[in-house]
Amino acid sequence: MCPPERYEVAYAINPWMDTTTPVDTELALKQWERLRETLSGLGHTVHVLAPEPHLPDMVYAANGAFTVDGVSYGARFKYAQRTAEAAAHRAFYDAGGWEFRAPTQTNEGEGDFAYLPAAYGGMVLAGYGFRTEPAAHVEAQDVLGRPVVSLHLVDPRFYHLDTALAALDDRTVTYYPGAFSTAAQRVLRQLFPDAVLAGEADAYAFGLNLVSDGRNVVLNSEATGMARKVEAAGYTPVLVELSELKKGGGSVKCCVAELRP
Ligand code: ARG
Repeated sequence: MCPPERYEVAYAINPWMDTTTPVDTELALKQWERLRETLSGLGHTVHVLAPEPHLPDMVYAANGAFTVDGVSYGARFKYAQRTAEAAAHRAFYDAGGWEFRAPTQTNEGEGDFAYLPAAYGGMVLAGYGFRTEPAAHVEAQDVLGRPVVSLHLVDPRFYHLDTALAALDDRTVTYYPGAFSTAAQRVLRQLFPDAVLAGEADAYAFGLNLVSDGRNVVLNSEATGMARKVEAAGYTPVLVELSELKKGGGSVKCCVAELRP
């Protein structure tokens, strides 16, 4: 995770960002701290990446890489405003002894890649359409040696896979069908007949942008409907307020790069 000390909406690269809306950086920091404490309180180790000047989106740490079994496939950002973030993430993985693999294709890390260790021997779901290029899905498969299933995102509000789909545990997903092409919806129905389906209101409240440890599901406090759905599915919802970070087009999951040793 990376604290939003330099957070602001200085440019608009997704439909949620409006440079005329004021952002309360102090509140963003407080909300982010609560999220960090929540994850630590659930027993997870949180590493903190130092924010860098002129990189206001660094708080969305999920975009920096995608790591499976100790191998970290690095990010290559679509927009120039975020390009320099990749090096900061790389330095973290290099220093921590992870096997870092530099990308040649545009991809925004866990923003567009999800991992299901117990589905089909370890399956990667990958989004394309707005940020990550399909060529990066192929590269991820080569680098990680896991089957990668490409899913076409068609609604600009849900420009990253992690705004529309999340792993609830090692084999179960939840997703908002409307964010995907008809073909991708069909693929998802075939792969995950028991998925927890989210509706438009859940998705608009960033309810899919969640972090789950298989039991506790940490999600945006505005996503009350989604909280009820995950509870009905047998998980424990843990609500966190992240109103300020929503102005940049992100929520819980965007703030967290998961490390899979
Ligand atoms: N402002 C950032 C962008 O548009 C938000 C990134 C959100 N991150 C995510 N994992 N969905 O790139």
